[in-house]
Amino acid sequence: MNVRETAFAILKKIYIEKKLATEVYPSFLEKLEDERDKRLTLEIVYGVNRFKGRLEYVLSKFANKNRTEADIWLLMLTGVYQLLFLTRTPAYAVIHQTVEVAKKINPKVSGFVNAVLKSVSRSKNSISFPSKENLSDYIQYTLSFPLFLGMKWVADYGEEKALKIMKSLNLKKPVVFRCFKDVSPLKKDYIVHKTPYIEGSYHGNIPVFMIRAAECYIMNEASQLAPELLRNFKGRFALDAASSPGGKGFLLKSFGNFDEVVFNDVSVDRLEKILENSRELLLNVSAITMSDFTKPAFKENSVDAVILDAPCSGTGTISGHPEIKWIRTPQNLKSKTSVQKKMLKNAFDVVKKGGVVVYSVCSMEKEEGEAIVSDFVSSVENAKIFEPFEYSTENIRRSFSKFYKEGLGLRILPDKFLDGFFVAAIRKE
Ligand SMILES: C[S@@+](CC[C@H](N)C(=O)[O-])C[C@H]1O[C@@H](n2cnc3c(N)ncnc32)[C@H](O)[C@@H]1O
Repeated sequence: MNVRETAFAILKKIYIEKKLATEVYPSFLEKLEDERDKRLTLEIVYGVNRFKGRLEYVLSKFANKNRTEADIWLLMLTGVYQLLFLTRTPAYAVIHQTVEVAKKINPKVSGFVNAVLKSVSRSKNSISFPSKENLSDYIQYTLSFPLFLGMKWVADYGEEKALKIMKSLNLKKPVVFRCFKDVSPLKKDYIVHKTPYIEGSYHGNIPVFMIRAAECYIMNEASQLAPELLRNFKGRFALDAASSPGGKGFLLKSFGNFDEVVFNDVSVDRLEKILENSRELLLNVSAITMSDFTKPAFKENSVDAVILDAPCSGTGTISGHPEIKWIRTPQNLKSKTSVQKKMLKNAFDVVKKGGVVVYSVCSMEKEEGEAIVSDFVSSVENAKIFEPFEYSTENIRRSFSKFYKEGLGLRILPDKFLDGFFVAAIRKE
């Protein structure tokens, strides 16, 4: 398969199987030899996912979606993305290659694909996109968000904030990383910048494999916050209850304020990932358990702190995983809330009196964040949400106090650097 065919096949699988791109593309990319081909394939896949609404809007001006085979429509979207955004590839090459793929899907429509893409190419600079005055079209076509999600955020956050959230989630964020030893080896070969929120966190235009080779771990500053809130909390055992691929637990371990950090996750494959990452980072991760944390598997009152970074819809990470916009539906958006509730109850049971649970989700959905913790503390007498900077550094307090809502937690709104996130600290009194 060539680049265009591979990008089309990856996108098709993402939409049919409702999987993340990162779960789908590795097996496809293996078959491409050239590094530039791999990069271009991912550029098309991520670009289509990021701007699908906008591409649909353009394509609809020249073709009727209801009368077009779904595969051909998707293929044409990949062509439209390239014509609109990849200005260094000549239009004739994009059209020719896309038509060649169309011939394999259905030879009868290759002429149609050719004609439509030529029309897009001719007219692309004269197309204007809906303005804010028409809110639903603006959300779907200009901002490329599904209407149900955009309108939900308008209801949850108000129009101004919701539109800001969507714009931020359409940005490609810098690759932010944390070095567990020393950042200076990277500084010899690359320009390394400090990030705006967390001391000891960096970004730069550095290949991912070089970051990893330098014993540094890629982790958004919003995600770093969960362990940072326990930085000065001292204890014997901490449990990272849903820990794979390991980032939060690694950071907590690197602070050295617990005798042991226990890494738990639900499956062998997920635990393998932690081991693989810890080996690369030369971190000695020895306490690992496999259990379904929706069921009681740990002794009650046995650990000093729990990080519960619960499975969720992931809508706070749309910048890095734009396909989340299209694989979530009104039906599955909140499908993890009952798991989150059970896990939070278990986390609280496992922690000792005086101990702390840090609950977090990389989600914009209040049903997965604010509602889970406030329902929990209102039904459990000795559970209290406390001011979350009690055990953090001053730097963290300064950077994040604007996101704190008293008695609730930190609602992190995405920006140029931050993913959307929710984190709250609950004490067992
Ligand atoms: C948001 S991810 C955690 C990311 C991780 N904390 C990190 O910083 O790298 C959620 C994790 O929950 C795990 N998980 C899902 N259901 C679980 C369950 N019932 N019990 C334990 N872990 C579970 C998933 O395998 C996944 O690794």
